[in-house]
Amino acid sequence: MNIFKTAGELSGFLSRSRAQGQTIGFVPTMGALHEGHVSLVRQSKESDDLTVCSIFVNPTQFNNPDDFQNYPVTIDRDIELLLTAGCDVLFLPSVAEVYPPAHSRRHYELGPVETVLEGAFRPGHFQGVCEVVERLLRLTVPHRLYLGQKDFQQCMVIRRLLELTGMQEQLELVIAPTIREADGLAMSSRNLRLDPGARRQATGIYRCLEAIRTDFGKRPTPELEAEAKTRLEQEGFIVDYVALCEPATLLPLSGPDKPAVVLAAAWLGKVRLIDNVLIE
Ligand code: PAJ
Repeated sequence: MNIFKTAGELSGFLSRSRAQGQTIGFVPTMGALHEGHVSLVRQSKESDDLTVCSIFVNPTQFNNPDDFQNYPVTIDRDIELLLTAGCDVLFLPSVAEVYPPAHSRRHYELGPVETVLEGAFRPGHFQGVCEVVERLLRLTVPHRLYLGQKDFQQCMVIRRLLELTGMQEQLELVIAPTIREADGLAMSSRNLRLDPGARRQATGIYRCLEAIRTDFGKRPTPELEAEAKTRLEQEGFIVDYVALCEPATLLPLSGPDKPAVVLAAAWLGKVRLIDNVLIE
């Protein structure tokens, strides 16, 4: 595996690969890798000649400084996992490489998909995500971009970014299914911060989402959302939202129409967990 720390080395190497006719699959991450990330690498390896992963804890997408400071860093283990998965290139830049002095911030017109749900609780978050993803895409110029359904709203935001920048013409966005622990908890780097008690409680989110999927169409949507919220609160969560939405727009559902997506965000102590399931 080639490990590049500078933008120049990465883009030089990849432009030579591209000139030789190789297709490039790109998996952006913030590290503390787990099976969810590895599944994206594997999917890229099945479809692309060259798989590129980036590890960069992007400061501009953290609205909470504590969350940024406490973001887990497990770089040696990450490299091991990527080697085992057969990743070809790892981009491991510093902040100055990603945001050099010449970098200028722009505002992305993302529409409602930016301000609902996660956007309402994490102002500015998706602007930061777009800023880093655009920069990384311009350096890697991949044929396919792999994202996890785990961050469903992020997928919809990045789809909009690709439209806004015209990049959707040159690259395919692949959304891969959420990988879960045996008890249903969606894998997440933040799970490392759960103490054993909170780790046991954490499965409550997925159970609530599954309960809504089962009852979907049988009772009014607001009732299902309210019931799930109460249940999570009784289990010790502080709930930011439980919402049934139209998948493409993330606007509230007007009726029991499919496809739908149910999304939730809730805190256990100082750890914020998000999850979603599609109802198709
Ligand atoms: P990060 O949280 O490290 O996630 C990197 C990618 O892995 C994202 O596409 C995410 O949806 C996917 N992923 C995380 N957990 C997953 C799971 N359990 N199953 C399947 N895929 C999973 O998302 C980010 O980083 C950042 O916002 C980033 C896009 C890299 C921009 O900084």
